[in-house]
Amino acid sequence: SLALLGRTPPMGWNSWNQYSCNVTEDIVKKTADALVSTGLQKLGYTYVNIDDCWAEPERNHTTGMLQARTSTFPSGIKALADYVHSKGMKLGIYSDAGTNTCEGQPGSLFHEALDAATFASWEVDYLKYDNCHNLSLPLKLRYKKMSMALRHVQRPIFFSLCEWGLEEPATWAPLLGNSWRTTADINDTWSSICYNADHNDKWAHFAKPGGWNDPDMLEIGNGALTEDESIAHFSLWALMKAPLLVGNDVTHMDNRTLAILGNKEVIEVNQDALAVQGKKVRKSGPNNKLEVWAGPLAKRDKWVILLFNRIDHESHMVKVDWHDLGLSNNATCTIRDLWEHKDLPGTWTGSFEAHVKPHAVKMYIFTEINSIK
Ligand code: DGJ
Repeated sequence: SLALLGRTPPMGWNSWNQYSCNVTEDIVKKTADALVSTGLQKLGYTYVNIDDCWAEPERNHTTGMLQARTSTFPSGIKALADYVHSKGMKLGIYSDAGTNTCEGQPGSLFHEALDAATFASWEVDYLKYDNCHNLSLPLKLRYKKMSMALRHVQRPIFFSLCEWGLEEPATWAPLLGNSWRTTADINDTWSSICYNADHNDKWAHFAKPGGWNDPDMLEIGNGALTEDESIAHFSLWALMKAPLLVGNDVTHMDNRTLAILGNKEVIEVNQDALAVQGKKVRKSGPNNKLEVWAGPLAKRDKWVILLFNRIDHESHMVKVDWHDLGLSNNATCTIRDLWEHKDLPGTWTGSFEAHVKPHAVKMYIFTEINSIK
């Protein structure tokens, strides 16, 4: 059943970005432990999601069921779900709308009902559903099959469509699942972060409680991004109401990575009750590479604002005009910086600008203080 799942974007961890095909039950357990010990679980990181490579290459010859790989998941998925549940978290699993997954384990195409029932019997809470080896059969039908199968099991299972942004999923996937990919795979580079953010932005107005645009999982802590780039990546994903699925080794995180993933004020923007996906509202400067991204928040008269400098190597002033936000020119705002955790002294009327380093953002909440309503 899809009911009530994903009222706010899902938060958690997924094994793929860091471990690819080397995931094991030991890694999953240690990750669950680390989410608790670092405090991330308390901040809302709830889903512990296994990606590709958890299953044996053959289904059970008698029952036809998928089976956990005995070399890497010797205790089985049910035992792992019990473990993760005992820590107050939820377990996610992975399959594919094709004959095989991208890494070759059996896929769920033509086995949707059995596999959905199997996942439910293991007490799985989330299914990521990939798109490899699909025999070129129609995409929407293949995803609909699993959506219907999940609806018929006695367990709410979050359904994450991993159809790589094909066939404009925002226009149909909300009927089938709780999130859909808007892009191809992310990788640990600045250009990939920017590319996925821009493509995800196009579908902003389709996001709503229970159905989210997914620009793919986070790469923070995986080695290649600078601290400013990591902050920009997290801020953009939070503002876009993207799933916040961390993709790093949370058992060995430096303090800077933890401080980014654990920024409570930024997480609150992502989990805001109004659930409106913030979007790009202004481009200016050299090559139009100075951007303002913004969106409204649940509390009346509050907006989240990102000032984003995409220029390489040069700091710039980035400006937001009130009319970019739909605010009247004589509105007066107070401003809070969500990375400095400080209210700026004074008030602003008409516009605001700030100095932003290259490949960096500033993130604020603006509160209008003189609105006449
Ligand atoms: C392609 C997906 O888009 C990735 O996120 C990951 O799940 C891999 N397949 C696993 O094979």
